[in-house]
Amino acid sequence: MRLGSLTGLLTVFLAVYIEDTYAGTSCCHKTREELKEMISLVSAIEETLTTKMSDLKAGIKEEVSSLATGISSDVDTLTAGISTLTKMVSTLSNAISSIKTDVSDIKAENAGIKRDIAALVKTLNKTNCELTPCENDGTCNETENGYTCQCKSGYTGRNCETDIDECDSSPCQNEGTCIDEVNRYTCKCKAEFAGVNCTITIGRLKTKPIVTNRTLTVGFIHDIAVTCSGHIVATDINTAKIYDRDYTLIKDIGKEFSFVTVTSDDKLAFTTFSSSEIHFYTTDGSFIRNINVTVEGARLTGLTSLSTGELVVCDGKTDRVYIVDQYTGNATPISANGTFETPNYVTINNKGVIIVTDYHGDSVKGLSRTGSVLFRRDVGCSPWCQDRFTGLYSGSRSLGRQYSPAYP
Ligand SMILES: *[C@@H]1O[C@H](CO)[C@@H](O)[C@H](O)[C@H]1NC(C)=O
Ligand SMILES: *[C@@H]1O[C@H](CO)[C@@H](O)[C@H](O)[C@H]1NC(C)=O
Ligand SMILES: *[C@@H]1O[C@H](CO)[C@@H](O)[C@H](O)[C@H]1NC(C)=O
Ligand SMILES: *[C@@H]1O[C@H](CO)[C@@H](O)[C@H](O)[C@H]1NC(C)=O
Ligand SMILES: *[C@@H]1O[C@H](CO)[C@@H](O)[C@H](O)[C@H]1NC(C)=O
Ligand SMILES: *[C@@H]1O[C@H](CO)[C@@H](O)[C@H](O)[C@H]1NC(C)=O
Repeated sequence: MRLGSLTGLLTVFLAVYIEDTYAGTSCCHKTREELKEMISLVSAIEETLTTKMSDLKAGIKEEVSSLATGISSDVDTLTAGISTLTKMVSTLSNAISSIKTDVSDIKAENAGIKRDIAALVKTLNKTNCELTPCENDGTCNETENGYTCQCKSGYTGRNCETDIDECDSSPCQNEGTCIDEVNRYTCKCKAEFAGVNCTITIGRLKTKPIVTNRTLTVGFIHDIAVTCSGHIVATDINTAKIYDRDYTLIKDIGKEFSFVTVTSDDKLAFTTFSSSEIHFYTTDGSFIRNINVTVEGARLTGLTSLSTGELVVCDGKTDRVYIVDQYTGNATPISANGTFETPNYVTINNKGVIIVTDYHGDSVKGLSRTGSVLFRRDVGCSPWCQDRFTGLYSGSRSLGRQYSPAYP
């Protein structure tokens, strides 16, 4: 369109140019040749112009085409951008929706937290100890920084939650089995051992005669002892008889003695039933002296002697075991009240353990010199109970006096 008008413009321009040329010089006098020549020139110019025009056209075309390409590529980019934008918008929208959900969640959570805080404040208003943190009867004590628990014996830990294992230190000796209890342990000892820690060797309790069967000429043997020189002293409640090593009778004392022991200085000491008296004789049966033990209304039963000269005596009135000074009768209780129901026989083993048979307690107990029970063996039947009663001797008899023949 612009090209068309450009050609028109050029034609007009040419016409004017031709007229001027002829008018200015020698108008109307030009020859045909000259005109032809002019026309030819104009033609040439026109041709040149056409070529130029064509070139211009081509150039413009090219430019337009490249412009179109550019625009097209821009559109592509734009399209891609729009797609990206769309995506972004979608993402944003999603994000906003998610944020909305979050906000709602947070609101709900907030409400929960508020409730928790309220509960906490309520709780915090209590003192630590009001929350009873100490377990197993521990005592709570409020402190500046919180609280402390004073645990009952046998428990430990901040809140007394841990039961101390008293077996941890393996206290049971000689293959004893340890049983953990609260604040204590118990050792189950093997048969030959006893004591809290199974350290006491007791040997096997003897249930069979340990000397050969000899017949002593007494009604029955209630108690028996052997002197340093080998004399055998036997009591049968009605009397006490002294035999030589060959079992021949040396002396019949003729007193109603029930229990006998040989003192550390080789004298005989007897008790009688229902009396607080102890009677001393020489080993061949000569009277020395009597003493009363300093226990009101004592009813003495079994007795034995200590290497230090004192006697150990059972009393059926107080149900206790005493150490007695053999000259003054001064009696010191060694067993606590309630240790025995009826202490009856007593002996001492070579470890110094005082071994007592408990007549109604159905047991044999080992005492230390301070009276603590080192071991206990239940015999499950009193020495005189039906299934053991032989008319002669009780089982506890042989338990109590290891050197004595338990049977006739
Ligand atoms: C906690 O104690 C404070 C001050 O003693 C009191 O103002 C508050 O109401 C108490 N809060 C609760 C939940 O009992
Ligand atoms: C509690 O602890 C305080 C020190 O924190 C102490 O003085 C007080 O004797 C303790 N009370 C008890 C009963 O243990
Ligand atoms: C038993 O063992 C424990 C721990 O070894 C000890 O503390 C205790 O004195 C022992 N008891 C006796 C009677 O030996
Ligand atoms: C002991 O000896 C006497 C007389 O020799 C006899 O009668 C009695 O049966 C014996 N007892 C035992 C348990 O062997
Ligand atoms: C012991 O006490 C009894 C009863 O009180 C008395 O008969 C007896 O003579 C006393 N014996 C001695 C050796 O004092
Ligand atoms: C033991 O019992 C006697 C009376 O049987 C009593 O006088 C004494 O106070 C008791 N001792 C103890 C430590 O309980």
